[in-house]
Amino acid sequence: MRTAPTVTAVAHPNIALVKYWGKRDENLVLPMADSLSLTLDIFPTTTSVQLCPDDAQDMVVVDGHPATGEVRRRIASFLDMLRTYAGRRARARVDTRNTVPVGAGLASSAAGFAALALAAASAYEIDLDRTALSRLARRGSGSAARSVFGGFVLWHAGSSDAEDADLASYAEPLDDARLDVAVVAVLLQTGPKAVSSREAMRRTVATSRRFPGWLASSRLDVTAMRAALAEGDLPTVGAIAELNALGMHATMESASPPVTYRTRASHHVLAHVRRMRERGEQTWSTMDAGPNVKVLCPTSDAHRIADELSAVTGCPTIVARSGPGTRVTAGVDT
Ligand code: PMV
Repeated sequence: MRTAPTVTAVAHPNIALVKYWGKRDENLVLPMADSLSLTLDIFPTTTSVQLCPDDAQDMVVVDGHPATGEVRRRIASFLDMLRTYAGRRARARVDTRNTVPVGAGLASSAAGFAALALAAASAYEIDLDRTALSRLARRGSGSAARSVFGGFVLWHAGSSDAEDADLASYAEPLDDARLDVAVVAVLLQTGPKAVSSREAMRRTVATSRRFPGWLASSRLDVTAMRAALAEGDLPTVGAIAELNALGMHATMESASPPVTYRTRASHHVLAHVRRMRERGEQTWSTMDAGPNVKVLCPTSDAHRIADELSAVTGCPTIVARSGPGTRVTAGVDT
């Protein structure tokens, strides 16, 4: 019997400068507003997929261990969706390796679903252009739509009036962005979070009185951010990104019951980054669905700033720069 080739793809996480927070359609993973990110060059995820027509069910291995629970369920339902699309029945063996702790708000799901989308679509011989690939990755985890591309990326929410809402929501690279920026990630905590971003988002949209205000300002932030990126204006980019992220955390902290990802250590770093700025450094904070703080700064200052933040917190830091989009590394001709 002929064995199907194993297709391997690699993807990197991205950090949103204007956040995606709130879905208007849970099933299609359609966001309420556009978001904008930078794909990073750290913490890649590598995923291999092989079709196994004789297997009764999908086999999913994450970081060397068989996946269970919600992780397995999400990957298997993503594969079901692909099989329906491809008109194929074969089960798959998925082997995924992260270089970042999973579930700690370090965007492992963005890199994970971007790599899975490309490896699995190739294994099922579904020919997708990059736009279609970003739509597919979006169905696994919203932010994964953006990790399909390298550099600065815009994810279109798409209009609710669009005839096909799925088609209208995709990511694209921002080719006119010309900003030289680094991201210093302060790794305060790398254990899995108590509340998933999916649940936190749902709860925020349903119960936070602050959410509508944040959403309205986020829409304005995307326009202002695009202009600042095209100008190469780091102080404006940093200021918009920091306020957008802090505003997002305020919406979830005012949900019922509240979702609190920020710890004492996070607040300590946020305050220190403000103090650095007061003494003339170009540093701005951003955070995702977890306690870790990422600091935007000029690339030429990044290692010095990382050293200071390590000394102040006693925690490891890592410097990231602009990273590449998802690509196949083995198994098919590209
Ligand atoms: O893609 P998800 O469902 O893990 O949502 C991620 C949301 C944030 O990371 C908090 C913000 C963003 O835009 O990446």
